[in-house]
Amino acid sequence: MIEDMLRTPAAVQDAERHTAHNYHPLPVVISSAEGAWVTDVDGRRYLDCLAGYSALNFGHRHPALIAAAHAQLDKLTLTSRAFIHDQFADFCRALAALCGKELVLPMNTGAEAVETGIKVARKWGYQVKGVPAGQATIVVAEGNFHGRTTTIVSFSTDDDARADFGPYTPGFKIVPYGDLTALAEAVDETTVAVLLEPIQGEQGVVVPPAGYLPGVRQLCTERNVLFIADEIQSGLGRTGATFACELEGVVPDMYLLGKALGGGIVPVSAVAADADVLGVLRPGQHGSTFGGNPLACAVATEVVRLLATGEFQRRSTELGERLHAGLHALIGKGLVAVRGRGLWAGLDIDPALMSGREACERLMERGVLAKDTHGSTIRLAPPLTITAEEIDHAVAQLAAVLAG
Ligand SMILES: Cc1ncc(COP(=O)(O)O)c(C=O)c1O
Repeated sequence: MIEDMLRTPAAVQDAERHTAHNYHPLPVVISSAEGAWVTDVDGRRYLDCLAGYSALNFGHRHPALIAAAHAQLDKLTLTSRAFIHDQFADFCRALAALCGKELVLPMNTGAEAVETGIKVARKWGYQVKGVPAGQATIVVAEGNFHGRTTTIVSFSTDDDARADFGPYTPGFKIVPYGDLTALAEAVDETTVAVLLEPIQGEQGVVVPPAGYLPGVRQLCTERNVLFIADEIQSGLGRTGATFACELEGVVPDMYLLGKALGGGIVPVSAVAADADVLGVLRPGQHGSTFGGNPLACAVATEVVRLLATGEFQRRSTELGERLHAGLHALIGKGLVAVRGRGLWAGLDIDPALMSGREACERLMERGVLAKDTHGSTIRLAPPLTITAEEIDHAVAQLAAVLAG
């Protein structure tokens, strides 16, 4: 194809011209997708190894999810929570059962689930734990990523995410991730919750030391503090288990879920917890017009049904071993470190070779989409529907990029 006949350059420029520059996307303009593959406006195909930051765990346009969405579109799309609709109870029951919790509170985006968790923990602290009014604290980890609201960026340690967005919301203490001693020292009588990602996704798929999550669980139980696990990126099959906490045999007091819960079709997030925690909310104290809408519930109920089969967790475990074996073989050949669990990997590129961005651009030229983070790291999170051959293909393309 002659270069100046391609539609991509003009489409990239057009997007740049009319939007705020709060993202730095790769210069690919996608127009259709199926399973693990996307096609751009010039008809070029790419293997999607980012999967919408894990929002597409079931691949693009999974037939069961698309069918659920179509069927619901033909019946009812929105009621607001002023009324009850016929998809609501089924979704909440199914998700609560998947989480092993009594109650569910549906929202839309991941950040809203985090905000919900923070509000519920504070109210629980005042009403149940007996923390003096206005003094509740929540302990979080360095390197966290929980979203982009003003409260959430208040406890970010990433200057890009935080700088110039103050004044900041008080009430958070930040401790090093993976350090139980520092966590124990930070917890006091005002602490209502410890909020953590069981694996830090945006930080580069950082897995905490073995024993850390069970230690957090034990500390929270002993000190009457809620353990809130942000499983928005790590959850719903990504790591080979339904929840990353499960890999360490840990059950948090509250799960924060999002991304894949919407099946890559609609934004759906949720908080799941028992009644002694989520039961502190009364009418008028929290909500969202679109939270738990019929379309969202219909799709998310189907997501829960897919997860309940265990097939996706199994694929993630088995194919994850293949992915990690392939990536580990590249250590010393352009990679300096590989981390992760299941079909989720953070790779550190030798900075002397190229930046993460450069590696992603070269991968894109070879028909593989991935995204860099923090300079020299690349995250791989392909759809859990990816095949063994496709994994081998992605690893081979990475090897070729690293070999120059
Ligand atoms: C662990 C975690 N929490 C929260 C969020 C925020 O989700 P959203 O972008 O849907 O607001 C993200 C998004 O990347 C995330 O990875």
